[in-house]
Parts: sequence; C-alpha cells; structure tokens
Amino acid sequence: MSSPVSLDSLSPDILCPGLGRPSIDGHPAVTPLVQSTTFSREGIGSTCEHQYSRVSNPTVAELERVLGELEASPPAVTFSTGLAAETALFLSLVRAGDHVVCGQSVYGGTTRLLRQILEPLGVSSTFVDATCPDAVARAIRPNTRLVFAETPANPSLEICDIQALANVAHVAGAKLVVDNTFLTPILQRPLDLGADIVVYSTTKFIEGHSVALGGSVTSRDAAFLERLRFIRKCTGAIQTPFGAWLTLQGIRTLPLRIRHQSATAGVIADWLSRQPGITRVNYPSLAQGEARRLAHAQHIGGHGAVVSFDAGSLDAARTIATSVTLCRLAEHVGSVETLLTHPATMTHADVPREQRVQAGITDGLLRLSVGLEPAQAITDDLACALAKAACCSSPAEVAACL
Ligand SMILES: Cc1ncc(COP(=O)(O)O)c(C=O)c1O
Repeated sequence: MSSPVSLDSLSPDILCPGLGRPSIDGHPAVTPLVQSTTFSREGIGSTCEHQYSRVSNPTVAELERVLGELEASPPAVTFSTGLAAETALFLSLVRAGDHVVCGQSVYGGTTRLLRQILEPLGVSSTFVDATCPDAVARAIRPNTRLVFAETPANPSLEICDIQALANVAHVAGAKLVVDNTFLTPILQRPLDLGADIVVYSTTKFIEGHSVALGGSVTSRDAAFLERLRFIRKCTGAIQTPFGAWLTLQGIRTLPLRIRHQSATAGVIADWLSRQPGITRVNYPSLAQGEARRLAHAQHIGGHGAVVSFDAGSLDAARTIATSVTLCRLAEHVGSVETLLTHPATMTHADVPREQRVQAGITDGLLRLSVGLEPAQAITDDLACALAKAACCSSPAEVAACL
C-alpha cells in the first residue's frame, strides 16, 4: 500500500495564509478572544466599530476576514451553525412564491430545511440530479431564484459541473449556491468557477477538531453580503466569539490537515475497491468519464477526505458499524479522527426514501470521514470489521463473533 503524504515533506507555506496578518491592534500572534457582548461608546450619538455582539464582534470579524481571504473575497458572514447559514441565505434570496432547484444529493438537513420549513412558507423546491446540467435547466421555472448544489455531494460523492450550473442559473436570472463543506476553499474555489455564493458548515473540516459548531457564507456580491448581515442581525444566529476563536485555531492547520486526510482517503478508497463484499466505492479518484474530468478540473491537489461505500446490505453495514474500534460511529465529518456514518439512518434519515434511493443512499451505504491516523491503521480496523460482516448476518451472530 502506498503511504499518504508525509507531514514532514510539507513546506511551511501550507499554513493558512490569512492568519499571518491579524488586523487586531498590537498584532498578537494568536487572535484574542473577545467574549464581551457589548462595547462602550464615547457619548450619545457616537458610533464604534463593534457595538453589540449579535451584530458584530472583533473575534468573529477576524474569522470572517480570514474566511474571505481564503476565497479572495470580502469578509464572509458567519453563523452559529451551517444550517443557520443556509437558513439566512434562503431568507435573504427567496420569498413566498419563489422556487429553488436543489441537487438531490445534498446534506439531509438542507433537504429538510427546504421541504419542511420553506415549502410550508410558500417557497417550493425541485430536487434533481445536479450532475446533469440539462436536468437542472429543465427544472428551472420563471420563479426560480436559486440553484443549490453540493459537490462532491453528501454522501454519494457525485461531482457537479460548477461552471455549467452557473451558466444554467444565470440564463434564468437565478444565483448558484455551492455547499463546499467537503473540500473547503483549500481544495476547491467555487467562486472562481462561476458560483455566486458558497456556503460552509465550518463545524466540519474548517474547524476540524469537533469542538465548535459554525457556518459561513462567502460571496463577491457586496449588496448580497450586506443583506445577509442584516438578516443575521434580525434573526440572531451569529457565530459565537468562542466558536469563532476555536475555528480560527482550526484554520491554522486546515491546508495541512485536509491535504493529508485527502491523500489518506485516496489510499483507503483504493483499498476498499479491492475488498470482497463491497459492492460500490464512491470517491472522486475512482470516478470515470465526465466525473473524472470534473474532479481533476475543479479540485486543487486533492479530492477530500470523505469516502462512501456500499457494504451490500443493512445487516453488513450494521455489523461493520458496530465492529470498528479505531473508526468511531458518529454523525459528523471533517475531524482529525476517522468517523463512520450510516447515512440512511443518521444524516439522511429525514430525506424521503425515494429521494434517498435516487441519491444512491442505499441501506448498505456507509460514509467514512478519514482522519489523521495512518492509512494502515484505518484499513486494519476496517479489514477486521469487513471480515466480521462476511461471517455474520444478524445482530446475534455479530455478538457471537465479537
Ligand atoms: C455538507 C453539509 N452542509 C451543511 C451541514 C450543516 O451544518 P451544521 O451541522 O454546522 O449545521 C452539514 C452537516 O453535517 C453538512 O455535512
């Protein structure tokens, strides 16, 4: 088995560029955590940069500057979670009577937000195969305001053509939003590829240590960003100062982590594709044809750290999930430890079964978020779990195997 990139071989310039020049007075090496909810003023009628931390805060502003800089954009707008970011994004761009075209393979919470919160408020959505720009074009209506896609998609790892989707959206006078949570700005720059808006769950790879929830929205459209800040001020879901501070610490090693984890994920995907009993492995480096071309055109130096694979049945998936010891069963991606998820019963449980099937989320599908452990340790753990799945088919048999 080829080993992933050695940490020692990476040069110091992989450290995050945005953190080299903190804009806070005194230039501390580490951005200070300003927990204060409020800021005193000189007198009545005077203003100051930050007035109340639901609107803005120095530590949050520093995170927003860094996130913007990573994408050659104005400061991002950050939120308490990725879903809070998506909610504010939809509130700022659609109203009752509008329509959204959304990829059918997106995070389950995005589907739930559109179907169960926005639909009853009069915003309709059509879920389509966003890997096919013609299907997206056919779903567009005169009242379509937004095309929303995730690429690579969660958990199918399908790849959408960002430039083609931007063209389809723009012809219809709509905006293209890309959820870039899986690759981060280090491995994919959707704004440079034609997207209007990028959304992140910073809870995942950007923060990277499973210690802070957060979301962010980046765009080069100043009027949109101003509107989004206003929505955030009115609805109140700003990133907390401590969450922003923790996320800033995570970003210091983001390029190093995501490149290393991606390299390991490629090794694991290759290994999985050679294991008996695995009926399908989803990872961009294994893709063929157009998906392969897009992966190479859109991704910068890695395809991300998420791999999904079909264990063949719910029983096999269950056995693997309960047998791994190094990999942890958890509803999360993007941390330094390797995590395993069963999308059909966890992240995508609220997605209607029909959409799940169309998005390739079978009962046997497992999603692996590859961490910083050596590839060999991860494959050893999986090999034991796969062997148990091969010899056991019921929970009682699994217990006997353990
Ligand atoms: C791709 C993607 N987008 C958005 C979200 C929502 O983010 P959060 O959990 O921070 O609200 C998630 C969460 O798992 C996700 O995986």
